[in-house]
Amino acid sequence: MRAAVEIDRLTKTFVSTRRRALVVPVSKKTVHALKEVTLDIPRGTVHGLLGPNGAGKTTLVKCLATLVLPTSGTARVMGYDILRQPDHVRATIGVCQGNERSIYWKLTARENLVFFGRLYRLTGSEAKERADELLGQMGLLDRADDKVEDLSHGMRMKIVFARALLHGPPVLLLDEPTQGLDPTFATDLRRYIRDRLSDRTILLTTHYMHEADMLCDRIALINEGEIKSLGTPHELKERVRDYDSLHVSVRGEPDVARLRGIDGVINCTERRRDTHVELVLTAHDGYELAHRVLDLLHDMPGVKVENFEVREPTLDDVFLQLTGRRIED
Ligand SMILES: Nc1ncnc2c1ncn2[C@@H]1O[C@H](COP(=O)(O)OP(=O)(O)OP(=O)(O)O)[C@@H](O)[C@H]1O
Ligand SMILES: [Mg+2]
Repeated sequence: MRAAVEIDRLTKTFVSTRRRALVVPVSKKTVHALKEVTLDIPRGTVHGLLGPNGAGKTTLVKCLATLVLPTSGTARVMGYDILRQPDHVRATIGVCQGNERSIYWKLTARENLVFFGRLYRLTGSEAKERADELLGQMGLLDRADDKVEDLSHGMRMKIVFARALLHGPPVLLLDEPTQGLDPTFATDLRRYIRDRLSDRTILLTTHYMHEADMLCDRIALINEGEIKSLGTPHELKERVRDYDSLHVSVRGEPDVARLRGIDGVINCTERRRDTHVELVLTAHDGYELAHRVLDLLHDMPGVKVENFEVREPTLDDVFLQLTGRRIED
């Protein structure tokens, strides 16, 4: 059987022009958001797209959603070509772009879903029935008659999500559906995706490693418009099975260059928090290296180690090995 989504050398280059003043020549900025991305998503699977800011995730979703024209290459969704059959593609997909402004705040929750249901050509009674069914599944039936402006951010996001499901599309494009949600709402949505949408084909972009781990059958790691690695969460982690990561939390100003220079350290990243610095070092044998790292940190003036642990590799570590940067940077 054909894959539900077939992406074929999809390329998108943005060229923005800018002129500061009439006498100054126009300056051009070129961004290669997608570079010949090729990917098949089999029917009924959840495919994760994991990558840092600016990696090209949203651009890929927008191309598949027929909102952005690719520069070259194409894609087919349930056999329909995004360039030649965009209307068929639109009828086949549900898109959730995680923007609470994409519904009407002066309408009630139910009115929004009925309105968008009608745009999807449901009859009045079908739209109402479907709206109530989805509101019930989202745990929002008791708020159905409240205006969206009176709902919480998490509730609004559930309605944005429900809107993508109104017409029962076989393919869902979910662009960071849980971003910025508090943990309860994020968990609700993840459970919904896992338990109620298991028959759909889903492309899910996320920054959250544990979300990708929990929901995705396969994951593509994307960086600077290119797919760097592809596999099940387990396969991806197997690729860095030989590595450990050392997580060290310190106060003061650690000399990161010296840590990087330790024999056996493959990578060292730092994240500055309000009160401390979080260091993550990768090595083939984290336990072996631990004492050398600790000794060196103790020698650094004003540096105090607050916490120290060796962890098994995560998807973020896989990404770091491949690209030299972390997804959550
Ligand atoms: N309309 C546009 N015009 C010019 N450049 C753009 C446009 N849309 C996106 N870009 C650029 O394309 C690149 C990819 O952006 P995109 O939004 O796809 O990244 P992303 O992976 O979704 O990032 P994030 O995690 O921040 O959502 C970025 O460098 C971005 O600045
Ligand atoms: Mg994005």
